[in-house]
This record gives sequence, structure tokens and C-alpha cells, in this order.
Amino acid sequence: MRMFQLDPRLQLCADLVRPGAKLADIGTDHAYLPVWLVAKGICPHAIAVDVREGPLERARENVIRYDMKEKIRLSLSSGLTALGPEDVDDIVIAGMGGELMADIIHQAPWVQDGKKHLILQPMTTAKELRLWLRENGFALLREECVRSEGKIYSVMLAVFDPKQAQKLTGELYPYVGLLTGKTEEEREYIQKVMQRLQKKLQGCLHRQDEAGAEELRCLLLELGKLAEIKTEES
Ligand SMILES: C[S@@+](CC[C@H](N)C(=O)[O-])C[C@H]1O[C@@H](n2cnc3c(N)ncnc32)[C@H](O)[C@@H]1O
Repeated sequence: MRMFQLDPRLQLCADLVRPGAKLADIGTDHAYLPVWLVAKGICPHAIAVDVREGPLERARENVIRYDMKEKIRLSLSSGLTALGPEDVDDIVIAGMGGELMADIIHQAPWVQDGKKHLILQPMTTAKELRLWLRENGFALLREECVRSEGKIYSVMLAVFDPKQAQKLTGELYPYVGLLTGKTEEEREYIQKVMQRLQKKLQGCLHRQDEAGAEELRCLLLELGKLAEIKTEES
């Protein structure tokens, strides 16, 4: 069976997985990510987890289609609850909300060993996820943006490192994490964040919340610089 290509979003997640890592893909659905990583020889084996029967069935079909039964274990379970520290090195959680991801990580204290890599691609509430990670001792090592099927996504690589997490103090951190506007995709992501904050600013002005409005104006100014300066450089 000829191997498929990952879409750019899942490809960026795959690029952040360490060669040789034991992989867990949480919320695997179709299992494209573990199938691809194992087929390419990047991961020796993987565990594909989904909490729902339908998606796990899709995963099973692909595991069989690509002859991966010996190398990919399927688990009908929630988050990381059925796994232990010995099962995985790198954990991918992609395609779900940031708050659900935080909940999943919270339920598995064993990931707090400074060695497990978490590769996270939130669909929503990225700000809440970044704040939760920092408050719970997880530092971002990398963050990158990618365009996939016309949408922009951010992918983060996090590891438990409380000292490093405390250093993520900038006021922009919750909004853009490690993104600096160095690529067109990053600038587009920052602009989307700005659009959301603009709406909040309108709300503050409507409510005559001057303090809230001033805070948002400052944030928008800083975010604007980030996007603008890099645009001029490029
Ligand atoms: C939109 S799909 C994402 C599939 C794939 N990870 C991707 O990014 O293309 C989200 C999947 O997460 C699963 N899911 C939601 N909550 C989960 C949980 N607590 N544990 C495991 N899987 C979960 C859903 O059943 C669904 O199949």
C-alpha cells in the first residue's frame, strides 16, 4: 500500500516528534499521524488513543490497511489515563480544544518528568492552554505556525521544566507564546489574535470600561509591532 502524505498541520506535528521516540497520539481519529511516523521509521511503535468507538474504528481500518498491527497499539480510552510513563516518550495531542488538552495533561502527573515531550495543536483556547502550561510548570520549547486547508494553526512543543516556565513572563505570552512574527504564517496568526482583541476592545468601549480598553489598546499596539516590523523586514 502506497504511503499517503500528511496535511501540513499534521506534518508539522510529525516534524516535532523525536526520531526513535515511543509515540502516543491522543485523539487519534484516523490514526494518520502514528501510521505515517511508524511507516517512515521515525517511531519504532506507537499507541493510538481515542475515547470514541467510531474514530478508533477508523484508526483500526488504517492500521490494518497499512499493515501496522504489530507496531501500533489501539486504545479505546480517555486521554492518557490508560498509559504509563514507560509507554511513551513523545505525546501528540492535536485537533481538539486547548482546555481539553490541559485537562488531559493534568490527569497524567507522570508526564511531569522533564523528559516527555508534548506536541500540542489546539483548535481553540490556545491562550488558556499556554497559561495553564506555564502555571503548571510546563515550558514551551518551540512554537510554529502552519497553513493547512486555508486555515492557520499553531503547534507547540512543551516539556515539564518549572524553572524555564517561570521565564515565560512577557505580556504577549498568553496570546502568541513563542511566536515572533518571523514567518508569513506567524504574522497571519498574530493578526487573527488581534482581530479577536479588537472585538473585545469594542465591547469594553461599549460598556465604558476604560481600564479594560486601555489594557487591550496596549496589547494591540505590541502585537501590531510584532507583525509590522517583521513584515517590513521580509
Ligand atoms: C478532530 S479529531 C482530531 C484527530 C487528529 N488528532 C487530528 O488532529 O487530525 C479529535 C478526536 O479527539 C477525540 N477525543 C476527544 N476527547 C478525547 C479524550 N479525552 N481522549 C481521547 N480522545 C479524545 C475525539 O473522539 C476525536 O476523534
